[in-house]
Amino acid sequence: VKGGYEHFMLKEIHEQPDAIKDTYRGRLNAKEGLIRMAGIDDNIEKFLNANRIVIIACGTSWHAGLVAEYIFEDLVRIPVEVEYASEFRYRNPVITENDVVIAISQSGETADTLAAIKLAKSKGAFVFGVCNVVGSTIARETHAGAYTHAGPEIGVASTKAFTTQITVLMLIALKLAKEKGSISKSSFHHHLQELELIPGKVKKALKQDEHIKKIAEIYKDAKNCLYLGRGYNFPVALEGALKLKEISYIHAEGYPAAEMKHGPIALIDEHMPVFVIATKKGHYEKVVSNIEEIKARKGKIIGIVTEGDEAVKGLADHVIEVPETLESLSPLLTTIPLQLLSYHIAVLLNRNVDQPRNLAKSVTVE
Ligand code: M6R
Repeated sequence: VKGGYEHFMLKEIHEQPDAIKDTYRGRLNAKEGLIRMAGIDDNIEKFLNANRIVIIACGTSWHAGLVAEYIFEDLVRIPVEVEYASEFRYRNPVITENDVVIAISQSGETADTLAAIKLAKSKGAFVFGVCNVVGSTIARETHAGAYTHAGPEIGVASTKAFTTQITVLMLIALKLAKEKGSISKSSFHHHLQELELIPGKVKKALKQDEHIKKIAEIYKDAKNCLYLGRGYNFPVALEGALKLKEISYIHAEGYPAAEMKHGPIALIDEHMPVFVIATKKGHYEKVVSNIEEIKARKGKIIGIVTEGDEAVKGLADHVIEVPETLESLSPLLTTIPLQLLSYHIAVLLNRNVDQPRNLAKSVTVE
């Protein structure tokens, strides 16, 4: 069942190159410069006339929503808000028929997300679902949607769901941007070509596994960890911290790197491992100066860097390389080493990787 892997989580991490391909297969045609998605094609006016897009989700799916916020605002130039479904449903949100709501859920059964959808519908919004499980409650309750086609995800820790959600949301954003004319022809084509290269690059990122395992051995006894990123990789920092917390039970926090000096920097000492996503295009110089601040306080730096990086390598205690890509696609690569790292730490600590304590795969109660 686990395809020769020791755990479902590891299997699902390694399935990502194929899962991402399955997500865009039949939808993306880079040669002809086309994206076909029935759920969007049939409702294109609703999206293009929307005053704003509100994304609702929980947990890892919420993190994918945050990445989508950057993507949509950048490419489509529509304001986006990302909300925890559990907060949205109880705070009397201002929603009108001019809003488009995108609900993201791997299982399609999350109680809070479902309740938030019902609320948005009652206020007249058009609700679009991004689900993995075909025929799930959320897939049925939404007006239209797009499946991620990631295949079954068994491990409680979400992995391929995250990367395939980002892939679907990127396809949607590109399609809308093209229709709206908010992206140039050449940039549109460039995005499609780069997206098609992602599965191969994820495969390459996965090859760092042995190196990551060694880093896991060094930091497995840490009591606290920090994860930092900026821009598109800020949500990846949140996701990296969540992954570590839920399967290894080590306390971890994700932060936008520049927020460090507003509090968390007080935590830094020689016992604090800090995982910093510092890829080349994403505010690189600024992240490098954040790294210098941490080093000056003796924090341990593990940098997630672009292949061939020199500056971070010179400062960090360890680096893990990922291939170069567009900044907006980089979360699909930078998240891979963080998944592997959490996995190895959890295994070394003898945790129940696929079924961590107190957690369920789908949270069907609030
Ligand atoms: O099935 P959903 O995507 O709606 O689930 C949302 C969260 O419960 C889920 O992502 C959870 O945070 C995962 N265990 C994270 O790995």
